Order: sequence, then C-alpha cells, then structure tokens
Amino acid sequence: MYTEKVMDHFQNPRNVGEIENASGTGTVGNAKCGDIMRIYLDIDENQVIRDVKFKTFGCGAAVATSSMATEMVKGKTVQEAMEVTNKAVMEALDGLPPVKVHCSLLAEEAIHAALWDYAEKNGITIQGLEKPKSDISEHEEDEEY
Ligand code: FES
Repeated sequence: MYTEKVMDHFQNPRNVGEIENASGTGTVGNAKCGDIMRIYLDIDENQVIRDVKFKTFGCGAAVATSSMATEMVKGKTVQEAMEVTNKAVMEALDGLPPVKVHCSLLAEEAIHAALWDYAEKNGITIQGLEKPKSDISEHEEDEEY
C-alpha cells in the first residue's frame, strides 16, 4: 500500500534531530490522531535554509513526508520553501494512500510554523505565509476517520 519511496523515507528518515539555537522552530499537532511534529530551521543571512531537522511523534506517513519535505526545503530560500506544499511532497514520494494524506499536512504546517517564527524574530514578511495553527485537525472538519 506504500510506495518504495515512502518505505525508504520511513525506514531511513533524513534530517531527524534538532538544531540548537535554530533560526525558527515550529510545532504542530493533529488532535484527532494525537501526532506531533516539530521542525527546526537554520537560515543564513541571505534567507537561505542552510539546515533543517525534524522530530516527530507521528505515524509512518508523517515520518516519510517530513523526511522528504525537509530534503526539499534544504538549500531553498524561505520564499521558495513556501512552494514545498504537502501535495508537492506527496508527488515526490509517488503518492500516499488517501487515508494518509492528512499526515502529510503535519510537515507542511510545521515548516510554515517555523518560517513564521523566523519571520517574526527578524521582522520580515514571507509572501503567502499565514499565521500557523497549532492543531491542523481544524483544517479537516470534512474528512472522515
Ligand atoms: Fe496522525 Fe498520520 S495518523 S499523522
């Protein structure tokens, strides 16, 4: 039911850990499944994401999507990182089973929360970035579990 890429990123997740004195950190959870994701960003003076780490208390799909999402934002500017949507991450993983699509939102939202934290600390605006929610299940009232 999972693609090879999902299994690879689940079994060998990239960028697991934390960054001390990160430029931005973001934590989001999904109250429905109880999973939590934290993202740390190290951003240089040119607003390029030099390093990124994640920690999750989440399911396999959350691990795989965070691993891929962190790979995709590394080396990008904070503005370019906004293009790494959960959809883009799922495509890069060759898809996720429909019931697991919501898991991929944890990574996207946690990255946004970390970018928001960075933007606030530095007094900058990142186009298209909205104040993150700490509980992403608010987004998905229409979904069934
Ligand atoms: Fe909660 Fe996957 S079941 S993130």
